[in-house]
Amino acid sequence: METPIETAPRVYIETYGCQMNVADSQTVRAVMRQAGFKSTERAEDADLILLNTCAIREHAEERVLGRLSDLARLKQRRPEVRLGLLGCMAQHNRAALVEKAPWLDVVAGPDSYRRLPELIGRAGFDPAVDVRLDRAETYADIAPEHAGGVRAYVTVMRGCDKFCAFCVVPYVRGRERSVPAPAVIREVSILAARGVREVVLLGQTVNAYRCGEIDFGALLRMVGAVEGIERIRFTSPHPGAMSESAIAAMAAEPKVQPYIHLPLQSGSDRVLAAMDRGYSIAQYLDLVARLRNAIPALALSTDIIVGFHGEREADFAATLDLMRTVGYDSAFSFKYSLREHTRAFRLGDTVSEDEKSRRLAEVIALQERISAHRNRALVGARFKVLVEGPARRGNAMLAGKTPQYKTAIFPAQDGIAPGDTIAVRIESTTGHTLTCSVAAPVT
Ligand code: 5AD
Ligand code: SF4
Repeated sequence: METPIETAPRVYIETYGCQMNVADSQTVRAVMRQAGFKSTERAEDADLILLNTCAIREHAEERVLGRLSDLARLKQRRPEVRLGLLGCMAQHNRAALVEKAPWLDVVAGPDSYRRLPELIGRAGFDPAVDVRLDRAETYADIAPEHAGGVRAYVTVMRGCDKFCAFCVVPYVRGRERSVPAPAVIREVSILAARGVREVVLLGQTVNAYRCGEIDFGALLRMVGAVEGIERIRFTSPHPGAMSESAIAAMAAEPKVQPYIHLPLQSGSDRVLAAMDRGYSIAQYLDLVARLRNAIPALALSTDIIVGFHGEREADFAATLDLMRTVGYDSAFSFKYSLREHTRAFRLGDTVSEDEKSRRLAEVIALQERISAHRNRALVGARFKVLVEGPARRGNAMLAGKTPQYKTAIFPAQDGIAPGDTIAVRIESTTGHTLTCSVAAPVT
């Protein structure tokens, strides 16, 4: 029997980190609703506060620790409030967490969400902790509670088997496993029926997807066949796992958008080998060439780590060179952060914090120049944009993404609503935003 809404306990979820976590929070919301909880958007109104956390870099963990001390004060005022810590950080340092934040009631890792209601029921003086990793858990039977809007994230695989030397993900999210293809298609179809027009297929190494004979390329084509879905994106692929089948599907399936996030990490073969990335610069560049050849309109973005163990000035210069050679549309760059459990942890740091900051600033400045240059070259061009809603800067402007995942803003006008695809003409660019005029509605 459903709990009447007025008396239902309320859960508030705060999400940190990547899109996988955003999607996981939607699964948690569905689990909690099943258990009779209602969602609320304000921590102050909640009977249960859950933080879904990230462990990828130290900075991510520090933010959550700061937030936990705020919540300790809230719990002092309202001791009946239950507080739970979920996700990668729960898995990464549960022991330290329980020590640092003894006011936590629940600590649950990424494979324990099914058992969350039971854990909350069990929490007493000591927190209830469940951080068992499960090689088979995909939550395939749980329909996540999507936030609404024209775009939705769909998790198609979980975990990672790559074990890059710097990365904590394989330890906190466990082994690779794919959501069965029929469950993916069912989920995408439900979303399409609810008005979602764009799906982003998610996985830590999404192109390692496999369900029997169905590889990632085949999955793209199957999702492409779902009526009502107009755009398909995916993130993040691993450069070492990008098959010809996946490239062919990207080129052939018109719904798959011409954009790929292809994490490079470093432009130096020596550093890539030390990172255990599993590809050389020559192989990476060959992949970029094959992708651009198959998909001429392709936009590329990447991830870069500066200051990894043993990164010398010459290695760093090679990264800057590679960024110029590829000409990324955008890049996310990070200072190397030593993570416990990883293979590189015991090697320690060889690049000082100041030097990491200098290298990071150079990467950011270079990418700004490259992005600005690439965007300026688009002025005058026309693109199809899927309308999402009001632009952040307001002024009666609407926003949406081009196929290349660039933000386009344009004047709102009658007859243009979220979910429509329209043609725009790029008039000018500021930062990463393309300011456009509406060229024509497109059916
Ligand atoms: N330090 C800094 N950046 C990291 N990343 C992963 N682990 C670390 C780390 N220990 C970055 C990588 C990855 C992105 C999601 O986060 O660039 O692609
Ligand atoms: Fe981490 Fe490497 Fe797996 Fe990406 S592929 S999640 S960087 S271990």
